[in-house]
Amino acid sequence: MSPSLSSPRIAIIGAGIIGLSCAWELAKRGAHVTLFDSGFYPGRGASWAAAGMLAPAYEAAGEPGAHPRLFDLCLKSAGQWIDMSGAIAAVTKRDVLHSIGPSLAVAQTAEDRMQLAGLAEALNVRKIPFDVLSPGEAVEAEPCLRVGNKGALRLPTDGQVDNRLLVEALIRALESQEQVVFVTGTAPLAIAQGKIVLAGFDHVIFAAGWETASVRVGDATLGDIAPMLRKIEPVAGHMLAFNRLPDGPEMTVRSGALYIVPKAGRLIVGATVEPGETSTRIDSNAINRLEAAAHALCPMLKRATIIEAWRGIRPGTPDHAPMIGALGETGAFVAAGHYRNGILLAPITAQIMADSVLDGKTSELAAAFSPARFAAATA
Ligand code: GLY
Repeated sequence: MSPSLSSPRIAIIGAGIIGLSCAWELAKRGAHVTLFDSGFYPGRGASWAAAGMLAPAYEAAGEPGAHPRLFDLCLKSAGQWIDMSGAIAAVTKRDVLHSIGPSLAVAQTAEDRMQLAGLAEALNVRKIPFDVLSPGEAVEAEPCLRVGNKGALRLPTDGQVDNRLLVEALIRALESQEQVVFVTGTAPLAIAQGKIVLAGFDHVIFAAGWETASVRVGDATLGDIAPMLRKIEPVAGHMLAFNRLPDGPEMTVRSGALYIVPKAGRLIVGATVEPGETSTRIDSNAINRLEAAAHALCPMLKRATIIEAWRGIRPGTPDHAPMIGALGETGAFVAAGHYRNGILLAPITAQIMADSVLDGKTSELAAAFSPARFAAATA
């Protein structure tokens, strides 16, 4: 829809994958959007550090302590990726290398087998298809695997997208639209009559990942005004990239906390989980341990070379699920705390935000992810 003088003017604070996707959807529906980001290059935080996995089954179906509707949200968003990647490619003529799946979840120990049995049970309850593979069938499906593996699940719901290509394409697609503006720097937010305001804008959406509670609003922080946002906790993760070998792997393989994700020219290996950690400085011991774990799962990777190592920061929440919706009585909105699933949940988050900000609509599923669920605990 084309914008007009009466189209709503929306400020988004944070231009990571969530802010960018919200801008994409809002602009598509005719809004004027300005993205504020203090980083010199937008989208270079968690969105850049990620592996781009779109993995509802492995990340959310059997995850202990997770929000009871997280899997539903993840599965719905995974389905929306086909349209989203196609639309971005159509506008930018850039392929973001979206693969719908499958992925392989591999057991290497008796403990892994129990974890996979739990996952299989959770998938059966939800009537989500998967295949149980013997150790031999697992090697047949992905020859990079060790012959002594203890079996695997093939997960047709779990795919991936190249998150770095995606961020770059989305920025390019947004830059090509005249109703979208990028601002490098902070927004001069203020409080007026108890509401969060930004001169020249009708609505403000906060999408600053793990730093959302620290955004300045006048003399206060957003966390002072909306304490539930302090529940968003940094969770650092080390990752590395190998050069891609001509003989594989071709499929995303994962085992316990380890994952190996093939991209064009590189293989991403992740990740550590370091709650409370805000440093992006690399600990070489963590990288060595990841490399050794990758070698144990796929021995052929001993022939590969590490071409990059990094440490990103996820925005964690107590129930591993995002906060999406109106921010209490502040008049503003939030889309943050996507923890391990920021790339996966980008399309559905953008849809929920646009429905809520432009049309005042909240579906039953969206309501389950309101930040209000943490309000009582932080009042
Ligand atoms: N999505 C995988 C991770 O956060 O490590």
